[in-house]
Amino acid sequence: MVKSFAKWVFCGLERGVAALVALLVVVGGACAPIDQCPPVSDVMLSRIRPTLAETGLFAPGSTDALAPGVRAYRPRYELWSDGASKRRWIWLPPGTRIDATDVDSWQFPVGTRLWKEFSFAGRRVETRYMERFGDGWLFISYAWNNDGTSAAALPLGGTTPTSGTHSIPSAHQCLGCHGGRASRVLGFSAMQLTDARDGPTVRQLIDAGLLAPEAREVRVDGDAVTRDALGYLHANCSHCHNQSRPPSGPERCFNPQNEIDFFTSARDTGGAASLAAVRSFAARRDEILDLVGRTSAQGGMPPLAKAQVDSEGVAILRAFAAAQ
Ligand code: HEC
Ligand code: HEC
Repeated sequence: MVKSFAKWVFCGLERGVAALVALLVVVGGACAPIDQCPPVSDVMLSRIRPTLAETGLFAPGSTDALAPGVRAYRPRYELWSDGASKRRWIWLPPGTRIDATDVDSWQFPVGTRLWKEFSFAGRRVETRYMERFGDGWLFISYAWNNDGTSAAALPLGGTTPTSGTHSIPSAHQCLGCHGGRASRVLGFSAMQLTDARDGPTVRQLIDAGLLAPEAREVRVDGDAVTRDALGYLHANCSHCHNQSRPPSGPERCFNPQNEIDFFTSARDTGGAASLAAVRSFAARRDEILDLVGRTSAQGGMPPLAKAQVDSEGVAILRAFAAAQ
C-alpha cells in the first residue's frame, strides 16, 4: 500500500545545496521519505498472540459474545476507511482507571486492550488490536478467514481474499497514524466521547469511576456545518497534523513537519477549542479540498490507508468552505 506512495520531500538536492541537505538530515530527517516508520522491535513481535481469540475479545469459543469486562464504544467522529463499517471495544484491567490529567492525551493503564473491527458488505475483514505494555503499545491486525470463523495475526499486512481493494496495514505502519499523538489511542478521548454515538460518554466514564477526576468534556464549537467539518478534520487528519506530536526517531513516519493543526483541543475553552483547525483550513482551503478528493496512491490525504475517496467527507468540507 505505502510502496505506491513513495513521495520524497524536496530537500535542496536539485539546487546542489549539499551542506544544507546534510544539516537537515541530522536535525530533523527532513530529506527522508515520509513513509518510513521504525520497525517493530523483536520484543514487541514476540508478544503478538497468533489468533484474535487469544486476545480475550470474545467469550471462549465464540466469535460474537463479548468476554466479561469488554465494553463497546463508538466515537462521535469516525475515521473513514474505504467505507468499512466498524465496531470498537475496550477492556481495562479490573480496578484500574484512565489518567485524564492531560485532557487532550489520556494515559491508559498497563494491560489496557482496544479492538477495532472492519467489515465490508457485512463481512468481517480485519480486527485491529492494541495492547498497553509497560514499555509501550503493541499494534497488530488480525485478518478474518473466508468463512468468518477465526482471525489470524497479519504482521506484514496486505490484501486478503475477503479484503478486496482494502489493504490491511502492516504492524509498523500503525505508527504512521497512532505515533502522531502521545496517548497513541486516537478515538477513545474526551473530544470523541463527550457526545459518543454509542457506548460510554465522558460523563458516564466519570460516573463509573473509570476516569481520574480531572476529566473534562469537550465539544467542537459552531453550527452543524462547522461541527461536522472540524470533527471530520479531527478524526481523519489531526493524528498527524497537530502541533504536539511526540518526538520520533530519525524516521519521518508520516510526520508532516508543517504548521497545519487540525486538532480540536479540550484545553481551550470559551469558543477556542477548534480555532487552530479553522485557521489551518482557511489558509489552505483549495489545496485541502483537492487532497481529500484523491486516494493515498494518487498523492491525496491521508497519505496512507485510503484506497477509496470519501465522497461524504468531501461534501462536508465543501459545505464548510462555502460557508466561510
Ligand atoms: C490512517 C491512519 C491509521 C492507521 C494507518 C491505523 N489507524 Fe488505528 N485508528 C486511527 C484513528 C484515527 C482511530 C480513531 C478513530 C476511529 O476509531 O474511527 C483509530 C482507532 C484504532 C483503534 C481503537 C483505539 C483508538 O486508538 O482509538 C485500534 C485498536 C486501532 N486503531 C488499531 C490499529 C492498528 C493495529 C493499526 C495497524 C495495523 C492501525 N490502527 C492503523 C487511525 C489509523
Ligand atoms: C498519516 C499522517 C497524515 C494524515 C492522517 C494526514 N496527513 Fe496531510 N500530510 C502528511 C504529511 C507527512 C505531509 C507532508 C507531505 C510531504 O512532505 O510531501 C502532509 C501534507 C499535507 C498538506 C500539504 C501541506 C504541506 O505543507 O505540504 C495538506 C494541505 C494536508 N496534508 C492536509 C491533510 C488533510 C486535510 C488530512 C485529512 C483528510 C490529512 N492531511 C491527513 C501526513 C498526514
